[in-house]
Amino acid sequence: MFRAAGARDVLELGARHGRDALHFAREGFTVQATDFSATGLEQLRDAASQQGVGEKVTTAVHDVRDPLRLPDACVDAVFARMLLCMALSAKELLALVAEVRRVLRPGGVFVYTVRHTGDAHYGAGTARGDDIFEHGGFAVHLFDRALVDVLAAGWTLEEVHASRRATSRAACGALPRPCPGGVQPVSCRTVAARQSLLRRSWQPQPQPQPEASRPLVARCRR
Ligand SMILES: C[S@@+](CC[C@H](N)C(=O)[O-])C[C@H]1O[C@@H](n2cnc3c(N)ncnc32)[C@H](O)[C@@H]1O
Repeated sequence: MFRAAGARDVLELGARHGRDALHFAREGFTVQATDFSATGLEQLRDAASQQGVGEKVTTAVHDVRDPLRLPDACVDAVFARMLLCMALSAKELLALVAEVRRVLRPGGVFVYTVRHTGDAHYGAGTARGDDIFEHGGFAVHLFDRALVDVLAAGWTLEEVHASRRATSRAACGALPRPCPGGVQPVSCRTVAARQSLLRRSWQPQPQPQPEASRPLVARCRR
């Protein structure tokens, strides 16, 4: 997808130990990986060296509640898997997306995945406002379609849909380690259909349904 968009470099936010950053690097992209966990980034650098892509990957400890430490219009693509649905308020998300837009080159692509209000965990735990629910000390922001649209203001929202793979409570167990391997199973490679089709396929699910409990994938173009 990034290659089809003509991207050569990718900024990943919330990269943790870098399964996606490493994939992008192996595919030939130059990757800047950020996370507020220095430990995860250290593992990422070690893995990049072991896999022979150390030259392709740089890392930076960064909290996305702060402005990105990058100049304007300096990257082709930004990727964030399950980062925006962390404990970030709507105000913090708006500021973050504005920062993503600032650092993207014109025409650049932003792809993110999040949990959404059809998720089996929606409403579970303690409400912290802005559809953020805390469960076992772990807070998740469940996105509704309105939030996706608000964040896409000023962007071209090219795709928004549920990933193919479910993250039901039955499949994933309790938060904060919802899935085997500790992360939600979604890949940007699942993004395939076009915007018009995807818009029709969006079905808000106020009642938790396992088949609806899939991460939401959104692709926006600056
Ligand atoms: C659910 S994990 C996803 C990790 C990775 N993207 C993946 O899919 O394997 C969320 C990641 O976001 C990071 N994170 C959470 N809040 C953050 C923040 N405010 N700033 C930067 N990173 C944050 C966490 O450290 C964690 O690595």
